[in-house]
Amino acid sequence: MRVDLLLVAAMAVSATPLTAPRALPNAPDEYAPANVTCPSTRPSVRSARNLSSNESEWLDTRHREIISPMRDLLTRLNITGFNASAYMDIVSSNTSNVPNIGIAVSGGGYRAMLNGAGALKAFDSRTSNSTATGHLGGLLQCATYVSALSGGGWLVGSVFLNNFTTIAELQASEDVWDLRNNILEGPDHKHLQALHTASYWGDIVDAVHSKRDAGFNTSLTDYWGRALSYQFINASEGGPSYTWSSIALMDNFKKAQIPLPILVADGRNPGELVVGSNSTVYEFNPWEFGSPDPAIYGYAPLKYLGSDFSNGLVGNNGECVRGFDNAGFVMGTSSSLFNQFILRLNGTDIPDALKSVLASILEHIGEANDDIAAYPNPFSNYSNTNASISSLSELNVVDGGEDGQNIPLHPLIQPNRHVDVIFAIDSTSNIHNWPSGKSLVETYERSLESSGVGNGTAFPSIPDPNTFVNLGLNKRPTFFGCDTRNLTGPSPLVVYIPNAPYTFMSNTSTFDLSYSDEDRDAMVLNGYNVATQGNSTEDADWPACVGCAILNRSADRTGTTLPEACTGCFRSYCWNGTLDSREPSGYEPALMVKESGAGVLTRPSAWVVGFFGLVVYFGLSRC
Ligand SMILES: *[C@@H]1O[C@H](CO)[C@@H](O)[C@H](O)[C@H]1NC(C)=O
Ligand SMILES: *[C@@H]1O[C@H](CO)[C@@H](O)[C@H](O)[C@H]1NC(C)=O
Ligand SMILES: *[C@@H]1O[C@H](CO)[C@@H](O)[C@H](O)[C@H]1NC(C)=O
Ligand SMILES: *[C@@H]1O[C@H](CO)[C@@H](O)[C@H](O)[C@H]1NC(C)=O
Ligand SMILES: *[C@@H]1O[C@H](CO)[C@@H](O)[C@H](O)[C@H]1NC(C)=O
Ligand SMILES: *[C@@H]1O[C@H](CO)[C@@H](O)[C@H](O)[C@H]1NC(C)=O
Ligand SMILES: *[C@@H]1O[C@H](CO)[C@@H](O)[C@H](O)[C@H]1NC(C)=O
Ligand SMILES: *[C@@H]1O[C@H](CO)[C@@H](O)[C@H](O)[C@H]1NC(C)=O
Ligand SMILES: *[C@@H]1O[C@H](CO)[C@@H](O)[C@H](O)[C@H]1NC(C)=O
Ligand SMILES: *[C@@H]1O[C@H](CO)[C@@H](O)[C@H](O)[C@H]1NC(C)=O
Ligand SMILES: *[C@@H]1O[C@H](CO)[C@@H](O)[C@H](O)[C@H]1NC(C)=O
Ligand SMILES: *[C@@H]1O[C@H](CO)[C@@H](O)[C@H](O)[C@H]1NC(C)=O
Repeated sequence: MRVDLLLVAAMAVSATPLTAPRALPNAPDEYAPANVTCPSTRPSVRSARNLSSNESEWLDTRHREIISPMRDLLTRLNITGFNASAYMDIVSSNTSNVPNIGIAVSGGGYRAMLNGAGALKAFDSRTSNSTATGHLGGLLQCATYVSALSGGGWLVGSVFLNNFTTIAELQASEDVWDLRNNILEGPDHKHLQALHTASYWGDIVDAVHSKRDAGFNTSLTDYWGRALSYQFINASEGGPSYTWSSIALMDNFKKAQIPLPILVADGRNPGELVVGSNSTVYEFNPWEFGSPDPAIYGYAPLKYLGSDFSNGLVGNNGECVRGFDNAGFVMGTSSSLFNQFILRLNGTDIPDALKSVLASILEHIGEANDDIAAYPNPFSNYSNTNASISSLSELNVVDGGEDGQNIPLHPLIQPNRHVDVIFAIDSTSNIHNWPSGKSLVETYERSLESSGVGNGTAFPSIPDPNTFVNLGLNKRPTFFGCDTRNLTGPSPLVVYIPNAPYTFMSNTSTFDLSYSDEDRDAMVLNGYNVATQGNSTEDADWPACVGCAILNRSADRTGTTLPEACTGCFRSYCWNGTLDSREPSGYEPALMVKESGAGVLTRPSAWVVGFFGLVVYFGLSRC
């Protein structure tokens, strides 16, 4: 039965005027992947040994493009005894010496999206007052990479799919980032919500069925990804034609005026329910989908994902398929743990008739595979790929945080990318929904599997989570890997920026599925304060220290001695190897900055209470 038979006149209600500029709705048949004529150079899978030519060429431009914003940023950061302009003159003659900055935004549902948004807002020179003393505006304009997973992916997707919009614009928008309604009820339509919800689901179900009818396996992730799109893509019906690969065609991206966005997801082996720390980590960049891990060691062209690849090629008789990389589906894949939310129809105000229709559509999809996204395997029979994967016709791709590496560091520690410093925004839920550094530990331990999944990656030593709590490393920014002599190979410096309560108790539940506008904005502002340490009220040297972190590796390469101010910064911010692994007595931090308007969630969420019972604990508890 088609859901929209239930809708009666609801369709008329859903037509909202949408005028804002957006990215590229370039899929051939909206949500359904479609056969297209193959380009004259047939799409092929490549080895992970080198960066793609697309990325190498883009990087050449990006490195030149950031020289001027970096000159401005380092000048504003005001490192005593350092001549930023003279330094940028030196490195601009050989752009491989320009500091190569990555920003990584963790998962953790809307909490992670909003805390991460605060950090991006703080780093963005377009944010009003962000270039004042004590602030960090301009860091985003100097970044080469922005990686994200799960809830962090919703943030990065919202920014890039809407023409690299600002956080302030997303907050002010009437059409996106409206988190007041449960996502199951659809966008807010003041008077006719029930009818609107029916029309919303009608469109979602029709879209997913169109993909199925085109011959592709669908899963809960398809429904989830469609639903997410209505919140994050500023286009009618959640922009069913927007693709992740279209980011590569955006004018500002092609000119390398904006950073390179990467979403992360994990691989799950057939028959497994638990994703181990050894599982494959995939990335979606604007050109490609793939993994440098030994199990795959290849990348497929994202635009043609869904084509029937064998041994790295689309067969001569095979058609090329486009439109599989729907942007919402990619965001949904990276956040597939939340698929379970869409089975939670009972906690909502959805009319009973519609509930039972939806339940019959959604609930047959097989509980064990709730969190899986099905991808036609582009690495089928591909020689570099491990036989246990290359023999599969389909890849099971799941939430990027399921392996416990909830900060998407993996793409940024690949030696080919030569990242110098990673600003790691951690909104993971480890203790009372605050982070404990556990995600960093997972990445560190994985890097030690040097002959296996580690595959040449190096990562700074990271202490145990108890040490994080006992030394307060999870409450204020900490640098890891300052001393390059103590590393097992080239590794970025990691600037760890944990979610902490500056002006708002931002440890909201991962399962909190709706936020009032006030709470949403208070979360974002808290995130701004986390990244800037309360606009440097906690430490007046913080901006200069951020500058020193940016310069650390580049200064090594150019044989430059950083000034005394940086030595002081590294003394205060670098983890120095001290451990205190005793079981902490607890971790319940109080607000650090008292100001009017600061506080806690204004509304306890009934939704949270209703949801707990059915959570797959070992999974969601990691996000
Ligand atoms: C995207 O944003 C840039 C910079 O704000 C603007 O110049 C351009 O016109 C926008 N593109 C579209 C398609 O709206
Ligand atoms: C990788 O790049 C190197 C040079 O940087 C080149 O010699 C080699 O052929 C490339 N390998 C592949 C598989 O493209
Ligand atoms: C990526 O590189 C390939 C090979 O150089 C080229 O054909 C393709 O057009 C590039 N893609 C984009 C989006 O620029
Ligand atoms: C830069 O720092 C010095 C002290 O180190 C201070 O006197 C000066 O006012 C600062 N400049 C700006 C623009 O904040
Ligand atoms: C920016 O600073 C000005 C002057 O200090 C102030 O009036 C304004 O409210 C600030 N804007 C924001 C967004 O904080
Ligand atoms: C696309 O082409 C393949 C192979 O020729 C065919 O099996 C499939 O039915 C086509 N799909 C659609 C939607 O036409
Ligand atoms: C949802 O509600 C229906 C009827 O109210 C009930 O039959 C069903 O068991 C409930 N489902 C869950 C998962 O609680
Ligand atoms: C990961 O793989 C290594 C061998 O490469 C093995 O020693 C280790 O036990 C595995 N770890 C897990 C958690 O499976
Ligand atoms: C990474 O894995 C690939 C595929 O197994 C292998 O060819 C390559 O040598 C490995 N690289 C390092 C640095 O271990
Ligand atoms: C930091 O600056 C922003 C505006 O730029 C302001 O809204 C916020 O309240 C400031 N934070 C603190 C702790 O004063
Ligand atoms: C290392 O850091 C700890 C606090 O984290 C401090 O107590 C100790 O004095 C530091 N050690 C050195 C040698 O600086
Ligand atoms: C230096 O490396 C050793 C060995 O990996 C490690 O135990 C120690 O904690 C590291 N020190 C720092 C400050 O990273």
